Amino acid sequence: MAHLLSAYCTVNPSPLTKAYYKPVDQRSTICHNSIPFRRYESHISLRSPKEKHQRHHIICASAAHKVVSQPDSVSPHISNGSTSKPKKVMIIGGDGYCGWATALHLSNKNYEVAIVDSLVRRLFDHQLGLNSLTPIASIHDRIRRWKSLTGKTIQLHIGDICDFEFLTEAFKSFEPDAVVHFGEQRSAPYSMIDRSRAVFTQHNNVIGTLNVLFAIKEFSNECHLVKLGTMGEYGTPNIDIEEGYITITHNGRTDTLPYPKQASSFYHLSKVHDSNNIAFTCKAWGIRATDLNQGVVYGVRTDETEMHEELCNRLDYDGVFGTALNRFCVQAAVGHPLTVYGKGGQTRGYLDIRDTVQCVELAIANPANPGEFRVFNQFTEQFSVNDLAGLVTTAGKKLGLDVQTMSVPNPRVEAEEHYYNAKHTKLVELGLRPHLLSDSLLDSLLNFAVQFRDSVDKQQIMPSVSWKKIGAKPRTVAI
Ligand SMILES: NC(=O)c1ccc[n+]([C@@H]2O[C@H](COP(=O)([O-])OP(=O)(O)OC[C@H]3O[C@@H](n4cnc5c(N)ncnc54)[C@H](O)[C@@H]3O)[C@@H](O)[C@H]2O)c1
Repeated sequence: MAHLLSAYCTVNPSPLTKAYYKPVDQRSTICHNSIPFRRYESHISLRSPKEKHQRHHIICASAAHKVVSQPDSVSPHISNGSTSKPKKVMIIGGDGYCGWATALHLSNKNYEVAIVDSLVRRLFDHQLGLNSLTPIASIHDRIRRWKSLTGKTIQLHIGDICDFEFLTEAFKSFEPDAVVHFGEQRSAPYSMIDRSRAVFTQHNNVIGTLNVLFAIKEFSNECHLVKLGTMGEYGTPNIDIEEGYITITHNGRTDTLPYPKQASSFYHLSKVHDSNNIAFTCKAWGIRATDLNQGVVYGVRTDETEMHEELCNRLDYDGVFGTALNRFCVQAAVGHPLTVYGKGGQTRGYLDIRDTVQCVELAIANPANPGEFRVFNQFTEQFSVNDLAGLVTTAGKKLGLDVQTMSVPNPRVEAEEHYYNAKHTKLVELGLRPHLLSDSLLDSLLNFAVQFRDSVDKQQIMPSVSWKKIGAKPRTVAI
């Protein structure tokens, strides 16, 4: 089919385990999740010739030892009577944009970290002909480099969390105290390309999360789930947005209820389904969970990713995976007019990637109680698209860039002028010290984009997916 540009993704084999991919079925199948990938065992499964019977590998990096990690005041430990051990955190989606930065941050803070990732995000790039603007190393090279710089080991489990057998093995072998779940298809435009992407998104996200809930119940029932949701679950109601719950008086009776959700893409709807499933299992099984309704993330650098070029995070600027501010900075750097969709009054919560890692750390350090479904709105400031275009234009001028803005017909179905006032106090109460969007951050993000501008594929900048034109037939958005 036209959109299947790649049936598998390449992964640099680790010298520790000479890995190879073994197709289970050479045909291009419509597998259980309805996305027509060629089916590989465990979706993408890493196996060594010696251990063909095993479903997946745990890969621990080993390399020269040179410690440059920041000294840490207190190591996060779990005490159990007389024994004490480092807190173990499983990061699902740890090869992605937020997950990679978080895995390094927590490892640096002396948590014991395991990454679980199917590497499907890299496959999306191959399928659609997209690329991170920043060159990103393979997950194996990333982890080896981290080990060589800090002496710290990050475990790696490569596989699909929709495969419960794989997830079971990962849970049983790592025994996490907390699971941070970033591992979803996270692009609204991707979910609106065609039927198969819509089905893939909802299957991948909803079933993956359901599997995580069952794994916690069966194998780690004390484990705290920290799940990445999105502010987009709430939509843009004409009243203030609360943090998860709203107290309503109706016909003389009062109750505190989940805040109404008005998702506006198949991706956002998958997050709403996740939230409902998590809330239900907290009640039914006593699971402890924190739903982090995250705003739009910007920035590339964190203290840890800055340590070496092989630790560099991804920077997406294309019309499918790029997020607003990151995209505008890249557009300004290459002299492309900033693409404001419609009237540009769309207002959302935003945060620096350095605050994403801080918020997750705070949630883990202050876990929810058993049976509690806690919701935090995870953003630090709100901006309209026009606000962002104005800020980038001003910052660009200071760097000698001639930044223009164009209005593009809005490919989405959304209000372009609306009331927006979302609460975000709970993480601040736990100790979040926000990095607010400043001139210096914008300068550094713009400079970063300028540094890599020769690699920009300008054809990927304009939006290519329309909410109204979504069809049943598979299609590619690659030019
Ligand atoms: N980036 C943002 O601005 C933003 C905003 C709000 C919420 N979020 C949420 O944060 C989370 C992380 O976002 P991101 O930008 O880092 O996304 P990303 O696509 O860069 O990373 C997601 C990672 O999860 C992996 N993954 C996906 N499905 C998987 C599966 N079934 N099994 C194992 N691994 C799987 C991918 O390979 C990828 O490495 C997502 O849940 C997203 O919805 C992100």
